[in-house]
Amino acid sequence: MTLDTALTRLVGVRHPVVQTGMGWVAGPRLVSATAEAGGLGILASATMTFPELEAAIAEVKQRTNQPFGVNLRADARDAGDRVDLLIREGVKVASFALAPRKEMIAKLRDHGIVVIPSVGAARHAEKVAAWGADAVIVQGGEGGGHTGGVATTLLLPSVLDAVDIPVVAAGGFFDGRGLAAALAYGAAGVAMGTRFLLSKESTVPEEVKRVYLSQGLTGTVVTRRVDGLPHRVLRTDLVERLESTGRVRGLVQAARNAVRFRRITGLSLPAMVREGLAMKHGNEMTWSQILMAANTPMLLRAGLVEGRTDAGVLASGQVVGLIDDLPTVAEIVEGMVAQAEEILHRLGG
Ligand SMILES: Cc1cc2nc3c(=O)[nH]c(=O)nc-3n(C[C@H](O)[C@H](O)[C@H](O)COP(=O)(O)O)c2cc1C
Repeated sequence: MTLDTALTRLVGVRHPVVQTGMGWVAGPRLVSATAEAGGLGILASATMTFPELEAAIAEVKQRTNQPFGVNLRADARDAGDRVDLLIREGVKVASFALAPRKEMIAKLRDHGIVVIPSVGAARHAEKVAAWGADAVIVQGGEGGGHTGGVATTLLLPSVLDAVDIPVVAAGGFFDGRGLAAALAYGAAGVAMGTRFLLSKESTVPEEVKRVYLSQGLTGTVVTRRVDGLPHRVLRTDLVERLESTGRVRGLVQAARNAVRFRRITGLSLPAMVREGLAMKHGNEMTWSQILMAANTPMLLRAGLVEGRTDAGVLASGQVVGLIDDLPTVAEIVEGMVAQAEEILHRLGG
């Protein structure tokens, strides 16, 4: 018995398990390990420059000849160039955090690239399905990073009822029980962030992984104080401080961070404010939040790349509270599929 689903057929992978495009985390090593294990690995490109993305795609292709994907920001200034790069390199899947324009979906599809945007509501799924998306990933509120308020158990059926294209469930998955449950709902597979972050092949520093592993089920919090949008992160001292800081102090802190980020990246202040404004997405944001939005990549990098558990923001799903090991990616994927198969067999499916 194998778990042959609309997702495995659409993308040409062995297992209906997706490793999502987590900024600073989903690099060539993790993505190629997932591809080799038979899942769909997705490179995170929003935190990569164009040359870094070129190099990352080349490295994945050198490590594996299995299909993989790239997560794009449709509103990036060089989004068109990145789409051309995916086409040139024959990347199998384009995933998007924000809905891509209709023309961008059409161009990718015309060149045989499977388009899988992430959505947080049934009406977003309807919109991208009407624009030609091949499938959607729906992320419930349990999920790590930017997230909504509705749990996967309710969001997933609402999206399944709304669209006819394959739906991949995300937010709170980590084992074969979740995979079997998602398939029972009618999903075509599951996508996971936090579980793959906590794998042997993930390049997140070991001391940061240990901080994740020490968390219980209440170890995360959804905060708007990082960039103005609801963001599920570990409840660290820094986040507690951000949560309790008043508006004026928040602005001073954000400005100080902005200056530090500028020193590291060489980005001009107007460019940073533009970045912050780009993240507004129609949300009401204070100036302090706009500045913080510009800082978000730096705060995430400080935690996830530099290992600054004191000064960094660590995005995480609630599922972190149920994870206490660092298996290989192959053990994660194969273990989940075997457990799901056993459950479905026991249930007579
Ligand atoms: C550390 C981290 C970074 C993330 N970065 C991104 C990102 O850059 N783009 C994106 O679309 N989603 C991002 N996400 C969300 C994940 O892609 C995924 O939807 C989510 O982790 C699923 O929930 P789970 O953590 O319960 O598996 C991130 C999640 C985490 C934990």
